[in-house]
Amino acid sequence: MKSSDIRQKFLEYFQQKDHVIIPSASLIPENDPSVLFTTAGMHPLVPFLLGEDHPEGHRLADAQKCLRTGDIDEVGDKTHLTFFEMLGNWSLGDYFKAEAIAMSYELLTDPNWFGLDPAKLAVSVFAGDETTPKDEESANLWRAQGLPGQRIAFLDKQENWWPAGGKHPGPQGPDTEIFYWTGAGEAPEKFDPEDKNWVEIWNNVFMQYNLSAGGGLLPLAQKNVDTGMGLERMAAVLQGKDNVYDTDLFEPIIKEIEKLSGQVYDSQSKAGYSFRVIADHLRTAVFVLGDPQGVCPSNVDQGYVLRRLIRRAIRHAKNLMPNQDLSSVINVIIQKYQAVYPELKQNQNRILTEFAQEQNKFKNTLEKGIREFNKIYQKVGQVSGQDAFVLYSSYGFPIELTEELAKEQGQEVDRETFAQEFTKHQELSRAGAGEKFAGGLADHSEETVKLHTATHLLHQALRQVLGDHVEQKGSNITTQRLRFDFSHPAKMTDQEKQETQQIVNDVIELDLPVRFEIMDFTEAQKRGAIGLFEDKYEKMGGKVKVYFIGDKEYFSTEVCGGPHVEHTGQLGTFQIQKEEASSAGIRRIKATLT
Ligand code: SER
Repeated sequence: MKSSDIRQKFLEYFQQKDHVIIPSASLIPENDPSVLFTTAGMHPLVPFLLGEDHPEGHRLADAQKCLRTGDIDEVGDKTHLTFFEMLGNWSLGDYFKAEAIAMSYELLTDPNWFGLDPAKLAVSVFAGDETTPKDEESANLWRAQGLPGQRIAFLDKQENWWPAGGKHPGPQGPDTEIFYWTGAGEAPEKFDPEDKNWVEIWNNVFMQYNLSAGGGLLPLAQKNVDTGMGLERMAAVLQGKDNVYDTDLFEPIIKEIEKLSGQVYDSQSKAGYSFRVIADHLRTAVFVLGDPQGVCPSNVDQGYVLRRLIRRAIRHAKNLMPNQDLSSVINVIIQKYQAVYPELKQNQNRILTEFAQEQNKFKNTLEKGIREFNKIYQKVGQVSGQDAFVLYSSYGFPIELTEELAKEQGQEVDRETFAQEFTKHQELSRAGAGEKFAGGLADHSEETVKLHTATHLLHQALRQVLGDHVEQKGSNITTQRLRFDFSHPAKMTDQEKQETQQIVNDVIELDLPVRFEIMDFTEAQKRGAIGLFEDKYEKMGGKVKVYFIGDKEYFSTEVCGGPHVEHTGQLGTFQIQKEEASSAGIRRIKATLT
């Protein structure tokens, strides 16, 4: 079945079940500074999940453009993409579990619809925890559809809750995920969620709670259903392909890259991986450039993600086709999608012009960088971590490329030094830059460094007092005061301010040691470090610097370039001067040390 038919059939099925088809919202979320892109169909519908009346009614269906860069390292495997289309049906306080599961089962297995083999289906449902009971109801509903008990797995909040883990305030609930066996032959009797041959194709979320900013899980006045079916994965399943890049959605794109490179695409080879990265990243770039909200490559926010994707694609293209122009791939992508997303046709000129500009800019960078690399190499016979950083900061030359060139000379680049240089530079360059994820220091004077450590204490204290949703959204430190922006939906009460201040002063009194370690991003994640941004991760080549405040048990664990004091006792007395709104959903604290 062609992907356009899958999209069409999905929407038709729900239309005849009284759903109104709504258009995809923009990839750039409106009025939501907490995320850069629409990452799921629910984003644009949050007000309606919370109870606002939707003008089209209580039953909706859509194909929503989504973008996720959290999975960028997995792009190029069988199922991960940065851009994807999410097909969804929505009940806004209308039907709930029984009807949702029955419809999912019928659409998937009825020969008039998708006609999937029921013997290859499995599902997972929520196992329950201290606040929410095990979802026996959904399991029973699946059994009633004929699914054997062995094909139903009960999993925890990380797996079977949306948004995963249930840590961010907002509408949420347990979900049931539907998997399809893509391995050879018959599916095993027992469903093993760890087996990659079971591919998740659809998620049904039962949004019946709202997590308050304070951490309380409250029942919503209306029970909702939010479902998401990945179009690309479904296309792979229905087209009998073992990965999304072999579907008709990617076919013309891969063909064009074959034409440009003069190479035949081989999914198993290193070159094949580059084909997939180029195809994925350029497809995403086209949708971002062509979005009605109009984003261009830049050094901040969405523009920065876009720039990174384009540059990464060009870097991979360089291995396949020196000096080739990828504009024709952009054209092929526009052609492939313009019937469903007319904005791509309407914005074709802008897409092509912006892409060509970025491509030229980066080509110069690449050439200059290679020239500089050769100069250094010829002079010293090696390229150090510091040199790699100079290549990065002065020429925008990616560390991966320096590594590749070094490798050709049988050498390795010291990533640890690169990472240290990177974080040092980042702190300095951010002073006054007003970047969203900033940790800007005006200088490295004693006062500034103390206030910097106090900022870490404040960040952690706020999370303890207000909840884990508190995330740094900006920071600016002078010798006189710290300024810290963070996500929180409401004005802080006097008591909350008082408590926060007290916690910081208590930790100062304890005179805890401050130290750092450089580690892999995943290790930092495992150790619960806050302030992790995937952007930094990629630029630093997987290494991050993590500051720990405390002895054996750490009061604060945060990714940061430093510098910091050695003991919290050096700080003096912490005082919050002001707490005010910074922008929608973002609060700002100004504080001093005396
Ligand atoms: N919000 C859920 C998901 O993204 C279902 O649409 O998986």
